[in-house]
Amino acid sequence: MNKSSPIGVFDSGVGGLSVLREIRTRLPGESLLYLADSGYVPYGEKSAEFIRERCRKIADFLLKQGAKALVVACNTATAAAVADLRELYPELPVVGMEPAVKPAAAVTRTGVVGVLATTGTLKSARFAALLDRFASNVRVITKPCPGLVELIEVGQLDGPDIHRMLSDFTAPLLAEGCDTLILGCTHYPFIKPVLVRLLPPDITIIDTGAAVARRLQNLLELCDMRSDSQIAAHVQFWSSGDTGKMLSVLPLLWGEPPGPVRYFG
Ligand code: SIN
Repeated sequence: MNKSSPIGVFDSGVGGLSVLREIRTRLPGESLLYLADSGYVPYGEKSAEFIRERCRKIADFLLKQGAKALVVACNTATAAAVADLRELYPELPVVGMEPAVKPAAAVTRTGVVGVLATTGTLKSARFAALLDRFASNVRVITKPCPGLVELIEVGQLDGPDIHRMLSDFTAPLLAEGCDTLILGCTHYPFIKPVLVRLLPPDITIIDTGAAVARRLQNLLELCDMRSDSQIAAHVQFWSSGDTGKMLSVLPLLWGEPPGPVRYFG
């Protein structure tokens, strides 16, 4: 493993591509490995033990491909497994996601913050600790969003179904005076344009992809593992589900001409 080794990024499905894009923008010289655990998506309602098992298997695979760092580009997987992965690989930089409670608490004017996330994230001890730490002066209203990840997985980022769902999920938050909305799932940045159209203009929407890319950069620099390359490096994709399906949504969600998607069994 050296500075030019790749960074391993994974998610339950294609949502983590929103994080991969931020990493690509901030660290274009880094080679990237992206694994979508699409055979088991969504993680949101699965047990923490099941998710930990999957994460161990995926991390082991990415390390065998030479990854010098791991990014758990999934809020639900982070809540269930990031501590476990850090214990398993104490020398390895492991970056996870975290709903942006701290920045939201700093910018809200009404003192009411909404969080859209999966049941797994919202019920986790990690999320409870985050609220204890940063939300003592604000009211936080949480809203699980069943069904939303499944639509985003098939590349449905707009249209009547998405509109209806997002109106239903956000109406109770708006009714309580929420002026700051946290996107606590890496799939949701892909439907942010719909939220922007749907919500009143004074609502601030916060997600954490860019902050995670910054954190990754800091960690790589701290351990002197940042790539010296200035040219756009190689990106490789795997899926544990239907590789053809992933290939068909990549142009929409990734943007660069995608290479092949290989099967991870
Ligand atoms: C899911 O797989 O249910 C969502 C992933 C996430 O929490 O980011």
